[in-house]
Amino acid sequence: MPLEKWKGLLILAKFDLFLIKASLSRFVTLNLYASGKTLNRWVKKMKLVMYFVIGIAIVIQFIQPDFKNPAVDEKVALNSDPHVMSVLKTSCYDCHSSETKYPWYQNVAPVSWVMSDHIVRGRKALDFSNWANIDAKVKLERLERAKQMVNNEMMPKHEYLLMHKNAVLNAKEKQTLEQFFDSQIKELGGTPNTLKAFNI
Ligand code: HEC
Repeated sequence: MPLEKWKGLLILAKFDLFLIKASLSRFVTLNLYASGKTLNRWVKKMKLVMYFVIGIAIVIQFIQPDFKNPAVDEKVALNSDPHVMSVLKTSCYDCHSSETKYPWYQNVAPVSWVMSDHIVRGRKALDFSNWANIDAKVKLERLERAKQMVNNEMMPKHEYLLMHKNAVLNAKEKQTLEQFFDSQIKELGGTPNTLKAFNI
C-alpha cells in the first residue's frame, strides 16, 4: 500500500479513537450526575458479587484431584527412534503416558479438574507407557485413530495447546508421526484399511 494511504488510515483511526473517547466520557459523566444513588447501589452490589466469586474460588481449591505418575516399566514402555520419541513426548506424553509433566497451575482449581480428567481419560484411551501390553488388535485400531486425530488436528487437544505452544505439531512433525504410526501398523500386519477390516 502506498504511504499516503497509510497516513490516511492513521488519521481516520485517530478520529475514531477521539469519537469513542468522547462518547465514553459523556456516558460516564451523565450517569454519575444523573443518579449518584443508583451508582452507589450498583457498586455495593458489584462488591457483593465479587466477594461471592472470590469465596467460591477459595473454597473450590480444597477439592483437588490426586495427580500420580505410575512407575514406568522400561520393558513395556514404547521405545522408538529418538526423533519420534521427542515429538511424542512434547505433544502427547502429558496425557498419554505415565510421564506427565505438571505445570505450575496443576493445583489451581478448576483448571486442575480439567487436567486430571484429560490425563485419566487420555491414559485409558492410549498409554505409551504400557505399549507392549496393549492387545495387537486394539493397538492397530488406536494407531489408525491416532493417524486420523493428528491429521484432523484433533490431537493434541486444543485447550492444552493454549498453554503448550511448543506442542503444536508442524507439518514435518505430523509427517514424522504418520510415518511412525504407519510403520507400527505394518509391523502388526495391518494395512491402511485395518479399521474397515476389523469393522470398527
Ligand atoms: C491434553 C491432553 C491430551 C494430549 C496432549 C493428547 N491427547 Fe489424545 N486424548 C486425550 C483424551 C482426554 C482422550 C480421550 C478421548 C477424548 O476426550 O477425546 C484422547 C484420545 C486419544 C485417542 C483415542 C481416540 C479415540 O477416539 O479412540 C488417540 C488415538 C489419541 N488421543 C492420540 C493422541 C496423539 C497422537 C497425541 C499427540 C500428538 C495426543 N493424543 C495428545 C487427551 C490428550
